[in-house]
Amino acid sequence: MTNKPNFKKNNHKKAGSSGFQKITEPAPKRDSVLESLLHSEHTVEIEKMAVGGDGVARITYKDKKLVVFVSKSAPKDVLKIKITQAEKSFLFGSIVEIITPGPSRRTPPCEYAPVCGGCSWQQISDEEQLLQKEILLKELFAKSLPTVKYNLEETVQSPSVFNYRNRIQLKSQNGLLGYFEDKSHTLVDINYCLIAEKRISDDIPVLKASLKSSDQLVKYELKINQNDKFEHNRIGQKGEGLSFSQVNTGLNQLLVSCVLDLVSKTNAKNITELYAGSGNFSFELIKNNPFLAIEAVEMNSDLTANGAKKVAQLNLQKKLTFFTADCDSYVKRRALSTELILLDPPRAGCSDIVLKKVAEQAPKDIIYISCHPVSLVRDLQKLGLGRNNYQIQKLQIFNMFPQTDHFETIIWLTKNQS
Ligand SMILES: C[S@@+](CC[C@H](N)C(=O)[O-])C[C@H]1O[C@@H](n2cnc3c(N)ncnc32)[C@H](O)[C@@H]1O
Repeated sequence: MTNKPNFKKNNHKKAGSSGFQKITEPAPKRDSVLESLLHSEHTVEIEKMAVGGDGVARITYKDKKLVVFVSKSAPKDVLKIKITQAEKSFLFGSIVEIITPGPSRRTPPCEYAPVCGGCSWQQISDEEQLLQKEILLKELFAKSLPTVKYNLEETVQSPSVFNYRNRIQLKSQNGLLGYFEDKSHTLVDINYCLIAEKRISDDIPVLKASLKSSDQLVKYELKINQNDKFEHNRIGQKGEGLSFSQVNTGLNQLLVSCVLDLVSKTNAKNITELYAGSGNFSFELIKNNPFLAIEAVEMNSDLTANGAKKVAQLNLQKKLTFFTADCDSYVKRRALSTELILLDPPRAGCSDIVLKKVAEQAPKDIIYISCHPVSLVRDLQKLGLGRNNYQIQKLQIFNMFPQTDHFETIIWLTKNQS
């Protein structure tokens, strides 16, 4: 598994065009022993895609094979690349020329995709994107949980692979509106976004026309709200007013159905749901099983207020309780379910405190929904998977984020009888 470490900002500009405005361009980073390779050109073949979205190639340097992460590449591409950044033991490169395109390479449907930081994989066919996501997950398991048995079920594809996002965040400066370029702070000025729902995409020129030209960088959220109406809002400097919601409405419905199915198979009656949001899973679970009781824990008080309001409207006070709390403090104060713990943490995964408590409680079933395979596998390791305590009943990818390297994974663990 070639796992790209946390990315530090790349300081290299890409080829400009009238649609792009350079905002910052710090000097290239030169603190690596590999810095002599900066700007050198190489012919490489892309082996596979890495977590983070870049393709993986290797070059030989002083008898050593070095990994080069190449953005906007596709599997089996033969490329002339230029080294743009040197880290201690690996490099980043950009494409100078596509010598032979890989079999899955396509012309990205969006004209901005070759430079835009919004989509990392538009140049790869939709089928290959699914395959690469499966390869990524399997390699993480092979590396970190080599003895664990599992059957990775067929990936659930998004009902729409374009125009699927119900909310996007754009940046504006000097009358431009768009995303940052890939690995840069250069703004790509866009007039549409092919992964946003059409109502959102159509608003981009409207919002842009209303902007006052300012050199201050301002962020906007464009979204379909809870009442299915379009709105755009300026985001505060600290992201005030932003709350989590699943971005792909069609795929989310499939994910919720899967959770309902798994929960019914567990026969659980009491559930602790950690990282619950405003009840994306909880309400459907209760609706489908009147004998369930759920304690739903979420630290964002806007989300729990929405959840609690709906609980009152639906008269579910005896069934579903929202706790506005950091999961760490909640697990220290309250007993967790011995039957089923449902986890849906952010990309960073669960905290050590949460994982320790879950492992101590050792519920009969655990369902973990993850938006980052690296933190998922790390958390499974910390839960002790592979030490004969739990076995995997289900493992499946849900392609929540087509055209990008991101995806959701659902895993259902059942406790072994001792
Ligand atoms: C991936 S989202 C899932 C939300 C919900 N399950 C859904 O499907 O809409 C993760 C949620 O965890 C919340 N969160 C993040 N860190 C937390 C923490 N330490 N304690 C409690 N909630 C947290 C976030 O606010 C976010 O709503």
